[in-house]
Amino acid sequence: MRDNPLVLHVLGARPNFVKAAPVVKGLADLGVKQGIVHTGQHYDALMSDVFFADLGLPEPIANLGVGSGSHARQTAALLTGLEEVVLEHSPSLVVVYGDVNSTLAAILVCAKLHVPTAHVEAGLRSFDRGMPEEVNRVVTDALSDLLFATSPEALSHLADEGVDPARVHLVGNPMIDSLFAALPKLDPAPVRERLGVSGRYAVATLHRPANVDAPEAARELVEAVLGVAEQVPVIVPLHPRGRQRLAEAGLVDRRNLKIVDPLGYVDFLSLVRGAALVVTDSGGVQEETTMLGVPCLTVRPNTERPITVTHGTNRLVTPAGLAAAAEKALADGAATPSGELPPLWDGAAGPRIARVISAWLAGDNLSPAARGRVDHPPFP
Ligand code: UD1
Ligand code: UDP
Repeated sequence: MRDNPLVLHVLGARPNFVKAAPVVKGLADLGVKQGIVHTGQHYDALMSDVFFADLGLPEPIANLGVGSGSHARQTAALLTGLEEVVLEHSPSLVVVYGDVNSTLAAILVCAKLHVPTAHVEAGLRSFDRGMPEEVNRVVTDALSDLLFATSPEALSHLADEGVDPARVHLVGNPMIDSLFAALPKLDPAPVRERLGVSGRYAVATLHRPANVDAPEAARELVEAVLGVAEQVPVIVPLHPRGRQRLAEAGLVDRRNLKIVDPLGYVDFLSLVRGAALVVTDSGGVQEETTMLGVPCLTVRPNTERPITVTHGTNRLVTPAGLAAAAEKALADGAATPSGELPPLWDGAAGPRIARVISAWLAGDNLSPAARGRVDHPPFP
């Protein structure tokens, strides 16, 4: 083992912060030296700073400020920025989260520099390569040294892709650790008051490219949301990605429809906790509604999180089917088909991950053969 090994966490986008906080805390509790590299993929205060504050994340040791761009431009900026940081700090392990472009870039940089990596939220698959996230997931898992799975089906997906099971650890879901930690602070009342909502309401979050990028899809989606707003007031904390296209398609303030800026983590989950219904295309929100017992309608043809359907409150719907599904969900309330919540979503995933990493740093390393490559110095 190297003296005082350094662990770097590469974070870039809103969901990364939520997943990383429990791991950072778990490693801090074990005295592991660590630092956060913020790529700057998300940069608005309401998409980034507010999460550091709400989740108690330490200040990043570097912010690459890569910002927005096409996939190629953004990924290229991420690659060059991350290569410099990794060379400068020479970490013993780099931890990446989820499926965003920052995750993919960090894994590629580390693979080429022969720096070991860990992927938190490994093995999720929508089997829809039209999603940029699915491409990122497949590549990230193929190149990661340690893989932390949040749900059992991830294990078979990884095995099917030839990933050595010795590299995979089923640890539960750190996003749920963050939710549990926030629970005492989740109070819908002040947020409702600020937003002027009384009585029953729904919350909608929409940002998937397939839903918001093309005008036709955006129109269909907005029509569907308006169908829900005929039944119950809908609050939409709108992700910046969809802002313009959805507004052009008619997603603007009107009776029973309130469009607001993205909310901070505690405010958002407070609002969700008090909601009669959530409409979303987010990954993380499918998981959080399952744990909060709030009915969730996911406007997507597939999900990489089927456990939220089998063990939770989530249902997949088409835009055309949304209004009817909302009517049923509002009448029935939340129903969990199996009566059981997902295994290991118990608030202790962060400490589990930290223990595996700590043991790994202490010398319980994977052999180069198990990592699937020969150990030779990186190319200059
Ligand atoms: C990214 C992830 C997606 C994740 C989402 C979480 C990829 C490929 N996608 O999507 O998986 O679900 O984050 O929220 O990594 N923008 C701002 N301010 C910001 C950030 C973005 O205005 O702080 C706008 C810009 O116009 C930008 C657009 O949002 O072009 C998209 O941002 P980007 O990070 O490229 O992808 P997301 O859609 O946010
Ligand atoms: N979230 C938030 N404010 C919002 C919308 C979402 O704090 O206005 C949180 C949400 O609770 C979850 C995370 O952001 O923890 C999910 O991020 P997002 O939906 O952007 O990404 P995805 O999970 O789809 O990748």
